[in-house]
Amino acid sequence: MNAQPIQQADPESLPLQPTIFVIFGITGDLASRKLLPALLGLYVKKQLPKRFAVIGITRRTFTREEFRESIRSHMHVRPGQFKEEDIKHFLDHFSYEQGMFDDSVLYTNLAKSIKSVDDRWGQCSNKLFHLSVPPTLYEGILTNVAGSSLNIPCADGSGWTRILIEKPFGNDTKTAQSLDKLLGKLFDEEQIFRIDHYLAKESLQNILAFRFANAMFEPLWHRQYIDKVHIKLFEKVTVEGRGQFYDGVGALKDVGQNHILAMLALIAMDEPKSFDVNAIRRERARALDRLVPISARTLPKFVTKGQYEGYNREPGIPADSDTETYFRIEARIKSPRWKNVPFYLESGKAFAEAKTEIDVYFKSSSCKPGNAKAFHGDDPKCIEKQNVLTFRIQPDEGIKVRFFVKTPGYSLATEPKMLKFRYADTLAHPDALGDYERLIHDAFIGDQSLFASTDEIMASWRYVTPILEKWEELPLKIYKKGVNEIE
Ligand code: BG6
Repeated sequence: MNAQPIQQADPESLPLQPTIFVIFGITGDLASRKLLPALLGLYVKKQLPKRFAVIGITRRTFTREEFRESIRSHMHVRPGQFKEEDIKHFLDHFSYEQGMFDDSVLYTNLAKSIKSVDDRWGQCSNKLFHLSVPPTLYEGILTNVAGSSLNIPCADGSGWTRILIEKPFGNDTKTAQSLDKLLGKLFDEEQIFRIDHYLAKESLQNILAFRFANAMFEPLWHRQYIDKVHIKLFEKVTVEGRGQFYDGVGALKDVGQNHILAMLALIAMDEPKSFDVNAIRRERARALDRLVPISARTLPKFVTKGQYEGYNREPGIPADSDTETYFRIEARIKSPRWKNVPFYLESGKAFAEAKTEIDVYFKSSSCKPGNAKAFHGDDPKCIEKQNVLTFRIQPDEGIKVRFFVKTPGYSLATEPKMLKFRYADTLAHPDALGDYERLIHDAFIGDQSLFASTDEIMASWRYVTPILEKWEELPLKIYKKGVNEIE
């Protein structure tokens, strides 16, 4: 396919129909960090319908004022990022329902609140439900939402009902299948939006644009020219008070099965027949489906797990916890394009610096084949001679290419230089949206391209589950906080 624009948000297509946004777990960590700041960002950019209401569901009891004050004080926004007046007007759209998530009375009250907003607005409005709660609560909430008929869109077709589900989507292949089955029973596929917020990052979307809009790279996107790919998601933060959630999950399920595999899919996928939602999702899923399963025999060779020193002294973590905060996998993809090309997938918390990037190493004619294969057995001299294309996902989003030029002088010696593009230099765009802003926006307009499909989720679990089944057998490396890499 020739260079073509990837689907772009069209401000004209924004939803102007009244919308009620129901957030389960509105006082929780995810809502404070990601969801509410994004909603506020969209409000300030005038990207929300004029008539919108947020109904938060929480187990706590507040007065209306206390509720808004609690939202205000917990919302992660930088000082001065938004005008106080805007925040105040934004919060005027908020109300809440108190109750236990498994109590059917909560849903009866919620249905009444929704109806009273509809009555006030004089129409049946759109409803968007967001589950900002631990996955163990999904089944109860979904069943109760359906039990109160809240899953049914307006009878006259005037408003839709959609549901946003956060990762981790299940715990393994079996639980993901049963969650999917439940969702399929209660909602139509067009109503379900499965979030992997990495897919909505500008710098990730740019991988596809860059690959398919620049004719010079795609012909080289092949094992004949590519030596290896290294996908890193390093975080400086520790579990940061999310111990209770994190300890039941671990790095591989927290970011491996979803964010890292989403990056792999975008690098490894074939060119879609078109850039429509289904074609893109189908190719992403196909790439994941071709991952070569890691067997019990090859596990110790291809997989490493680790934990930062002091993890089990964090609040909410049992002293004897062996949950991993780091993993590295050497993955392979079964396809003519990628046969024998290692994909190193690596992620850790408490690293020296936050850095998410993808390095694509090209084969070098001055390197003996095989010399640059092994992860830490790399011949450094060999690696120095390779062209490297780096997608910098965050921070300091951009793309760079290492190439070689002749060193001035009498000999033909060469030295490496960089071609660089930084978003911050040239692409600060008024329409740029943060990841959660984009996700909410797309859920409003009903575009599922940046959401994970069932096929992608199932393919990624099929790869990760056999590894998790043998997880206990792998030794746990303890690493110091503030490392740059793990041997
Ligand atoms: C979340 C994980 O999905 O992604 C967190 O649960 C992780 O543990 C976060 O810190 C990373 O996302 P981002 O957008 O900050 O890179």
